Amino acid sequence: MSTVHELLHTGRNLLRGVAAPAIEAKVLLLQATGLNEVELLASPQQNIRAKDERRYRRLIERRLSGVPLAYIVGRKEFWSLSLRVQRGILIPRPETELLVEKTLDLAAGAAVTIVDIGTGSGNIALALARELPEARVIATDVSAKALRVAGLNAQDHGLENVAFVRGSLFSALDGLGLEGKCDFIVCNPPYVSVADWDSLPREVRDHEPRRAFLGGRTGLGFVRRLIKGSPAFLKPRAHLLFEVGYGQAAAAVSLLGPGWTDVKSLADLRGIPRVIKARNSERRQC
Ligand SMILES: C[S@@+](CC[C@H](N)C(=O)[O-])C[C@H]1O[C@@H](n2cnc3c(N)ncnc32)[C@H](O)[C@@H]1O
Repeated sequence: MSTVHELLHTGRNLLRGVAAPAIEAKVLLLQATGLNEVELLASPQQNIRAKDERRYRRLIERRLSGVPLAYIVGRKEFWSLSLRVQRGILIPRPETELLVEKTLDLAAGAAVTIVDIGTGSGNIALALARELPEARVIATDVSAKALRVAGLNAQDHGLENVAFVRGSLFSALDGLGLEGKCDFIVCNPPYVSVADWDSLPREVRDHEPRRAFLGGRTGLGFVRRLIKGSPAFLKPRAHLLFEVGYGQAAAAVSLLGPGWTDVKSLADLRGIPRVIKARNSERRQC
């Protein structure tokens, strides 16, 4: 039998090729033993059962074979919400929190109606639903699996002001009577071009869903459809916010022609433009 201290040391060594070996070793040991962090770290000399040690070593092997940590533990944190994730669902990325932050700035706590297109694990929709308890959030995805997991995430966090509907882009909203009634449409779209797919890390290409990444030949195909379909659902002067990939901001802004005002690209803390914000015009009939 080995102690916690010995297993963390072994795990760190085995995982030295990943970005944060010490943290990942600890996360995998927690997963393998079912202990919580306090129980694990308060007694570094406690012995771990042989069965749990075998499980720990198997988890390390899976991680070394390239399976993302979030899929191994089945969870990822976003906006301080612990969310379920599994194969077939995009792992939420920290940079997407900027989209949540900018939407919250504009919503200013009001009882707004928000549509999240392509919700995946539900990360954006659930963060907004939690921060804006008076809001009504409608989250869509083409993937039934994503919607099932997003629904469980909503239940886990007791969020009842969010509904999930399935369909491709705006067809998911058919029959909901939301035309001209939305204050916000938000989206983290698939925005990787076919040419750039091959340059993504292996861990992404081998394990995460292509459909969540690929935005057509130029990467902006989905964004183009998002911009085209949004005015029908937005109130006059209501907002569209969406994430863009590295180097895409200028091209995305150029797609927002007449009918849109206050178009801005918003940068993250490193100065990289990450979110495009635009306002539906006053006069356009929704
Ligand atoms: C980049 S992921 C974003 C997921 C999640 N919102 C996030 O930020 O982690 C894009 C999402 O769009 C969904 N998607 C792809 N094509 C779609 C379509 N035609 N209509 C609706 N959703 C779509 C994918 O299933 C995926 O969940």
